[in-house]
Amino acid sequence: MPLMLNPHAQAGTPYADVERAVINRDAAAEARRLIGRCPAHAPTPLQALPAAAAAHGVARLHIKDEGPRFGLNAFKALGGGYAVARVVARTLGEEAGAEIDIADLAEGAHRDLTGRITVACASSGNHGRAVAAGARHFGCRAVIYVPHDTLPARIAAIEGEGARVVRHSGTYDDAVADVEATARREGWVVISDTSWPGYEEIPVTVMTGYTVMAAEAMEQMAEQGLAPPTHVFIQGGVGGVAAATLGTLAETLGDGCPKMIVVEPAAAACLLASAEAGRPSPATGDLDTIVGPLNCKEVSAVAWPVVERRATAFATVTDPQVLAAIRRLNDPMGGDPAIGAGPAGAAGFAAFAEIAGDEGMRAALGLDETSSVLLFVTEGRVAGVDDAAA
Ligand SMILES: Cc1ncc(COP(=O)(O)O)c(C=O)c1O
Repeated sequence: MPLMLNPHAQAGTPYADVERAVINRDAAAEARRLIGRCPAHAPTPLQALPAAAAAHGVARLHIKDEGPRFGLNAFKALGGGYAVARVVARTLGEEAGAEIDIADLAEGAHRDLTGRITVACASSGNHGRAVAAGARHFGCRAVIYVPHDTLPARIAAIEGEGARVVRHSGTYDDAVADVEATARREGWVVISDTSWPGYEEIPVTVMTGYTVMAAEAMEQMAEQGLAPPTHVFIQGGVGGVAAATLGTLAETLGDGCPKMIVVEPAAAACLLASAEAGRPSPATGDLDTIVGPLNCKEVSAVAWPVVERRATAFATVTDPQVLAAIRRLNDPMGGDPAIGAGPAGAAGFAAFAEIAGDEGMRAALGLDETSSVLLFVTEGRVAGVDDAAA
């Protein structure tokens, strides 16, 4: 399995203004406070897997299981829903010339006005579902463009939130470009999880919502009397959740920051390609992978400065490795808890398992029997993939 140490890593250097402009503790605390006020929200479980830790030659393995998040099967609900809330509050506030309280919106205020707002995005599933759910919650309309290879179960989940789904004939990146052009004509507000020049604020808000995941995990470890992990694995699509996670850990843990490994499908490794090139660069793979949510050709420009500085290494996984990881998480060793995972959710565990079984990669990352590893199963079970893995 390819593993590349990050030649641009700035581990140990102070958290910089260029990073703080994207991910910072004040905005993260505000997101946590507002998301925490939502009655539908509850922290997701942090599971200990001692049998898997022993089998893979590390001291501890913890998995943050994002399947239950908001009942929407993925951490993505933290970002898309939060961004819809902020956009609706800002739009109505500008119209009214007064500040609109997000908590009031969440409780059903201003429904006569929110119905005029249409939000839109491109997504291979989870972000679209999150935006659709946010739109339903706040009384707006939602249009979600899905790439050609989106699984039927993911489309059904978006439609289940009341959104209109547009099946695009191209890739995720093609759908991003088209939804942006159509939104400009139609007056829709694009709630994208990726950024491009001139469109940064909303993706940063989406990423700020994602910071809740790592912040919760750190708090849960502390509550269990555990020190922060020594190694963290986080999946990369456009790099949004990697930036949110790496930025949160780098800012809050400083010198005690763990080694952080960003994991992508070999067929769509745009973050690895960008690290190799030293600037945002497209993936060189064929974009043919079952790991739909990570199947992105282009990085998010706003995420890149944090990922570039804070990633210890970039790892890639293949579809068979991901399928094996789904199976193992579902049917664990010893008395470990079973965790339902979709392909993007299992990719971090797949990379960890490969690295832990290879002396050279263990040594490169300083992974040994004293290590404490934290993984994120970023999405729960997804019908259609798990069946193939069963
Ligand atoms: C389950 C899951 N994990 C990880 C990611 C990667 O997130 P990002 O695109 O912000 O890198 C996604 C993106 O859709 C996802 O749905």
